[in-house]
Amino acid sequence: MKEDCLVTFAYAKVNLGLAVREKRQDGYHELQSVMQTIGLYDTIKLSLTGCEIECICGGLSGPKNLAYQAAERFIGGLNLEKGIRIEIKKKIPIQAGLAGGSSDAAATLRGLNHLLNKPYSQEELLELANQLGSDVAFCLQGGTQWAEGRGERLFALPAAPEMDIILVKPWQGINTGESYRRFDQLGKEHPLNLETWQEALSALSIERIASLLSNDLEIGSQSILPEIADIKKDLREAGCYNALMSGSGSAVFGIARSETQARDIALSFKNKGYSVWVTKTITPNLSQELKQSFFGRGDY
Ligand code: C5P
Repeated sequence: MKEDCLVTFAYAKVNLGLAVREKRQDGYHELQSVMQTIGLYDTIKLSLTGCEIECICGGLSGPKNLAYQAAERFIGGLNLEKGIRIEIKKKIPIQAGLAGGSSDAAATLRGLNHLLNKPYSQEELLELANQLGSDVAFCLQGGTQWAEGRGERLFALPAAPEMDIILVKPWQGINTGESYRRFDQLGKEHPLNLETWQEALSALSIERIASLLSNDLEIGSQSILPEIADIKKDLREAGCYNALMSGSGSAVFGIARSETQARDIALSFKNKGYSVWVTKTITPNLSQELKQSFFGRGDY
C-alpha cells in the first residue's frame, strides 16, 4: 500500500564564500557563492490529508511560510484531490543567513515529489524552487556548490572535507534586504576565484579552505549589528582556523580544529548568553535519506 505520510530533514547551509556583483534591473544583485550544507536540520512531516494546505510551525505557521508556498506551487500543476499537512519542528534559527526557510521549502518539494510518485523531474523541481526564493535551489541539491545569478545557477564543486563548525547566533536577526542596501552604500566587491576554490576543495585542505573564507555582505550587516565583528574576532582568538558571517547574517560560523575544540569554544559562547550549535559540514544523499525516513517514520 502506498504510504500517505513521511518525515524528512531540511538541512541548513553556510556560505564559505559570497561575492556581491552588479545590481540588476529587478532590484536583486548578481552574486557568486560557495555554498555548503551543514548538519543542523529542521524536521518536516508531510501528510496527504484533508482538502487544503496546512502548515504548522509555531509562530511561523500558515501561508506566509515558504514551505506552505512550496506546497501551493507543487500542487498548482497537478490535479490533486487531497490536501497537504506540513508540520515543521524548527532547530535552524531564522534571520540567520542559514537558509532555514528555504531548506524547509526544498524539503517540502522533495518530500511531496516522493509521496506522490514523482510527478516532477528534478529539473522541474528546480524550476519550482527558483520561483520560491534565491536559496531554495541550493537546498534541493545540497552538498558543496558554486552558485551564480541570484543563487539559482548551480555547479557542483568537489565535496568539502568534513569540518567541525561552531555556529553562533546573536539575539538580533538581520533583514536580508537591509543588508544588501547597506552593501550598496558601504561595500566593495571581492570576486571569488572558481579555480582557487576548486583546488582547495579537491586538496581537502581545511586550512586552505579556511583561508579563503570571504563574505561581501559582512560590512553591511556589521553596520547594522556590530556584534557580528566581535563574534568573528572571538572565534578566531579562541583558536578556530577562521570565522565568517553566513549569508546576510546574523549567524557567524567558525571552523574549528577538532570536535573537542568546537565544543569547548561553543561552551564559552553559551556562557556569554549566545545561542550556539556545534555541527559539521555534510554531503547529504538527499534522495536516499528520503527513502530511509519514509520507511522509518516513527522518529518525528
Ligand atoms: O531572496 P529574498 O527575496 O529573501 O531577498 C530579500 C531582499 O534582499 C531582496 O528584495 C533584495 O532587495 C535583496 N537581495 C538582493 N540580491 C540577492 C538576494 C537578495 O539584492 N541576490
